[in-house]
Amino acid sequence: MQPADLLLLKPMQPSVMEALAAAFTLHRADTAPDPDAFYREIGPRIRAMATGAQAPVDRALIEKLPRLEIVASFGVGYDTIDVAAAAERGIVVTNTPDVLSDEVADLALGLLLATVREISQADRYLRAGHWPTRTYPLTATLRGRHVGILGLGRIGRAIAHRLEGFGVTLSYHGRRRQEDVAYAFHPTLLEMARAVDVLMIVAPGGPETNGIVNAEILEALGPDGIVVNVARGSLVDEPALIEALRSGTIHGAGLDVFAAEPHVPAAFLDLERVVLLPHVGSGSVHTREAMGRLVVDNLLSWFSGKGPLTPVPETPTNGRGTGAGR
Ligand code: 8YV
Repeated sequence: MQPADLLLLKPMQPSVMEALAAAFTLHRADTAPDPDAFYREIGPRIRAMATGAQAPVDRALIEKLPRLEIVASFGVGYDTIDVAAAAERGIVVTNTPDVLSDEVADLALGLLLATVREISQADRYLRAGHWPTRTYPLTATLRGRHVGILGLGRIGRAIAHRLEGFGVTLSYHGRRRQEDVAYAFHPTLLEMARAVDVLMIVAPGGPETNGIVNAEILEALGPDGIVVNVARGSLVDEPALIEALRSGTIHGAGLDVFAAEPHVPAAFLDLERVVLLPHVGSGSVHTREAMGRLVVDNLLSWFSGKGPLTPVPETPTNGRGTGAGR
């Protein structure tokens, strides 16, 4: 049987490229000299796509691919894929949940500690040779803090689990109360922001959460407030956050994600009480390999008639298997 034609918008890591090349006929959109001619020629043959958050899959692209059956996305967040447009056509969308939860939770904890205790700043201080002249100024603390988790999904729970060991109080806000956890649920983000002094952002990006961490929420966190974001930059009103940090409305922020990655507003770089990371939450060799394997396994499972392994909740069920991840 002819291998199915698979579209790549951008190259993926070598292990994924090799595994895909062994099972599919690959077509790379990023190296096509004339994109219109490329889609005219290969668009009608494409049955699968492998992609990631950096390469949006919108309705216009989906319309160029009349035989598309499956979009396998690298990463747990899939806010750059138009899942409604895919569902209308019966196209399956898969992501890579679970395999990255612990890694991202570890990074979130590291970022929280680095922000509260100014670890990056203290490192810079030592390297700049200031220590012999003056000891590093005393910092804020995690002691006595109340942490609010925005989005108690798989990663949010892994963060909460780790934070239990730190002796902080925990609350959460999300779409619904979760009966199997003992943390306090706040039906609105504003109510939670008034109750806590650390806001950990772990909710999905997309129209429902766009800009929800705004000036009012930051004001409610108060002058000891810490914001940590390992989700999507789109959840935060970045100009409002910059202003809140400048004016002392909140104390500090640890950010792994930004609205217009890889571009970071220059104003953040001038602020002292921020720790800025280049979206490295899942970025270990171990976890990126596991994510890549799951992208490939979803595609192989689909084309062997066993259905997708980890379809996103919006994806249609269409009789080709129930999917082990559901
Ligand atoms: C991505 C992420 O995989 O899983 C997600 O949603 O944001 C990361 O883990 C990253 O975009 C990889 O490039």
